[in-house]
Amino acid sequence: MFFGPEFLDLLREKITLSDLIARRVKLTRKGRESLGLCPFHKEKTPSFTVNDEKGFYHCFGCGAHGDVIRFLTDCEKMPFVEAVEMLAQMSSVPLPKNDEKEQARQRHQSSLADIMEIACQYFQSQLKTPAGQKACDYLKGRGLTGQTAKTFRLGYAPTGSGLLHELKAKGCDLKVAQKLGLLAFNQTRQQFYDYFYDRVMFPIFDRKKRVIGFSGRMLEKGEPKYLNSPETDLFHKGEQLFGLPFAIETIRMKNEAIVVEGNMDVISLHQHGWNQTVAPLGTAFTEKQVQLLWKLCDEPIMCFDGDSAGQRAMIRAMNRALPLLVPGKSLRFAVLPSGMDPDDMMRQKSDKIWKNLIQNAQSFIDVFWADLLASHLHSTPEQRAKLQTDALEKIKLIQNQEIRRLYESEIKQRLKKLFYRGAKKNVNIQLQLPQEDLFLLASLYAYPNELAVFSENLSSLNYFSGIRETALFNGWMDAVLEGKDLPMPETEKKLMMQIDKIKSTKTPEMVTQEVDRWLCGKQLNRLKEEFAQKQAEYFKTENPAIKEEIELLRCEIENFSQMQDE
Ligand code: UTP
Ligand code: MN
Repeated sequence: MFFGPEFLDLLREKITLSDLIARRVKLTRKGRESLGLCPFHKEKTPSFTVNDEKGFYHCFGCGAHGDVIRFLTDCEKMPFVEAVEMLAQMSSVPLPKNDEKEQARQRHQSSLADIMEIACQYFQSQLKTPAGQKACDYLKGRGLTGQTAKTFRLGYAPTGSGLLHELKAKGCDLKVAQKLGLLAFNQTRQQFYDYFYDRVMFPIFDRKKRVIGFSGRMLEKGEPKYLNSPETDLFHKGEQLFGLPFAIETIRMKNEAIVVEGNMDVISLHQHGWNQTVAPLGTAFTEKQVQLLWKLCDEPIMCFDGDSAGQRAMIRAMNRALPLLVPGKSLRFAVLPSGMDPDDMMRQKSDKIWKNLIQNAQSFIDVFWADLLASHLHSTPEQRAKLQTDALEKIKLIQNQEIRRLYESEIKQRLKKLFYRGAKKNVNIQLQLPQEDLFLLASLYAYPNELAVFSENLSSLNYFSGIRETALFNGWMDAVLEGKDLPMPETEKKLMMQIDKIKSTKTPEMVTQEVDRWLCGKQLNRLKEEFAQKQAEYFKTENPAIKEEIELLRCEIENFSQMQDE
């Protein structure tokens, strides 16, 4: 659709900007301008101004700036055409006539959407028939409420050719229905038949909640478990996300999106209040889908299974997004307990663990780093050189220059720390005091859910050097994630005594604080050691690069000391 500049100016003239904005932001009049809390960034004192004479809004806090159309596209995240159409409707300005080709295209699209809508209504109605009872029971059995089924317009495709009859009765073009993947054609019998057969139907919606496709699930075990609509003029799998129209508002408001694998996961999470959830449509996450989500929020959280297939999928997603990173936009990664999907977790009432997983989703660079370490050895100079070269090569794929530079310096720093620590550990294997191990392990055991947040830190510190401690620690962390009881060998008498002592004398909050401080101290000591060593090195070589590192370390040490003082 093409809108000429005169037409757009007419809209700007007819619509009072402050009226439009007042629908979302509370404005107070101040002379010629109105003032309010900026909807584009978080603030407590208003710095967002609206000037109706000029037709512009401007935020002195974050620099957001624009007119009526920009407000809808940027704040309401509406596509441009949709925004213009809405403004035209509000101001009763008739839309300009399109050329014939465009009109024909639109007619075609809407006739397709009409057929999909008829199919959707048909499938929905089938849930209420005797034949659909088992589908109804199936959905109930999976814990879905009637309201959820209604919202997501779930349905049932029975055996037989009910949809064919329905489409005929409504005068639909059957060839078009075939192209839409609703009907198939039997060559020998020369007749159409229903494509979806004895399946629970999940409609797929576009942003305007128009039905553009279906995903049908078998009620019993069998292959394929899910049958999806083919690519059509309406339905482009790589550009859509399941659940998006139900999630869009929450994603924008919370500045958070959760991306899971399956339709059922999306529906189940929505039912439990996680309305910011979407899923790709049975394919890998695409570039287009990343870009789409980045228009709505800064750091979508991608959820992956804890098993090795899930881990590989996570690395693939990370690699795909790596070149696309831009300032402010990234992904985070949450790893689910092995063998469980979010739907399982909701049904097992593991809400707390799920919440923890989401809150502690790993940052992009941490996953990048973990992948490097998992795929390289680093105990000899040759291996280290290889690790370093590969890391820097990979960073070169990042298109954005600033991000590329920052990744480079951050990863270089991590490599230095890693190599230094490795060297140190070989010399002095038993650095840790057993007393500290005891305290930490006992705290973990006493309050596993509260202390799970430190697991990442402890693993990355490579804290436990003893085999026994490491095994206990790893086993416990797995159990926490899976919501199981922590295993405890009977031989650990001393440890059990310590646990009882902690439980009877300290609250989870107290222990959390203690461990937090302790970890900070630990890290601080490491940094100080490194600092001293670097200074000695600089003394000998006077290498300016080392001088820079020393400065960085000094900053880091200061930060940590401040954290400790708080
Ligand atoms: P899963 O096999 O993990 O299914 O596939 P699920 O979502 O947990 O399904 P339930 O809980 O058993 O009902 C994840 C997603 O992969 C796609 C679907 O989009 C599914 O939601 N998929 C799976 C297919 O497209 N076809 C299949 O045969 C299987
Ligand atoms: Mn599932």
